[in-house]
Amino acid sequence: MQQLEYDFIKREILSLTGIDLNNYKSEQMQRRLNSFLLRSGQPDWSNLFSSTRSDPTELSKLRDFLTINVSSFFRDPQKYEVLKKTILPNLQKESSNLRVWSAGCSQGQEPYSLAIMLTETTGSQRRHYILASDLDRSALAKAKSGGPYTATDVANVPINLHQRYFKVENNKYLAHERLRQLVTFKQHNLLADPFESNFDLIICRNVVIYFTALVKEQLYNRFYKALRPGGVLFVGGTEIVNKASEIGFETVGVSFYRRPN
Ligand SMILES: C[S@@+](CC[C@H](N)C(=O)[O-])C[C@H]1O[C@@H](n2cnc3c(N)ncnc32)[C@H](O)[C@@H]1O
Repeated sequence: MQQLEYDFIKREILSLTGIDLNNYKSEQMQRRLNSFLLRSGQPDWSNLFSSTRSDPTELSKLRDFLTINVSSFFRDPQKYEVLKKTILPNLQKESSNLRVWSAGCSQGQEPYSLAIMLTETTGSQRRHYILASDLDRSALAKAKSGGPYTATDVANVPINLHQRYFKVENNKYLAHERLRQLVTFKQHNLLADPFESNFDLIICRNVVIYFTALVKEQLYNRFYKALRPGGVLFVGGTEIVNKASEIGFETVGVSFYRRPN
């Protein structure tokens, strides 16, 4: 792809979706854009953008493609076991009602997994604050309605908890109201909007993979500041926080980084 063409695409996408592609690794993004154009059946980007401007379905296809919102409940079950057995008990020594943020929560599978885990381990009388945010409004709309989720989405939810947290109909899973009310959803761009603070736990998994190294570093610095001293950042299975110790983090196991007290 020629630089001029990429500049044009970046400008159009910023004005249509608010997503700034300068924050994303450009080679990977260009490859993905090429295959998106090919699959769209449009002859070129100008045609694709004019159909996107006039058709909200096309716009949401473009947004979905850019944000990639694949997720599942208890994604990486072994990591969730570490969270349950080691990280959460330690965090709860310092605060019994936790402030947790699922940053890039997609359709809600991640914050609902956390809400289930906290309810099962600390009881339903606790008042944890679970914030879940994402850039993608259509993913958030599904999250807020509690699904419906597929059997594959919930495959890692222990079977004995299915009825407690979901209404199951025709192999579709809809989160019960009592699960939905445990999570506060909000639309939020990690690369542009201010962060809340004083979190015990921030979960940001499988979100930063397409960001440039510099953007990742800035983001991890901001997560560090948004944690309370002693708070923990939980990242994706294949992700490593570069320069973690320069930022100030100590590593507390694979995928977990702690802001020291
Ligand atoms: C692959 S999903 C990850 C979902 C969940 N964290 C998980 O690991 O299963 C990536 C999510 O990050 C969101 N995302 C991408 N860029 C973002 C940004 N700048 N601000 C907020 N969310 C973003 C996407 O909309 C998408 O829902």
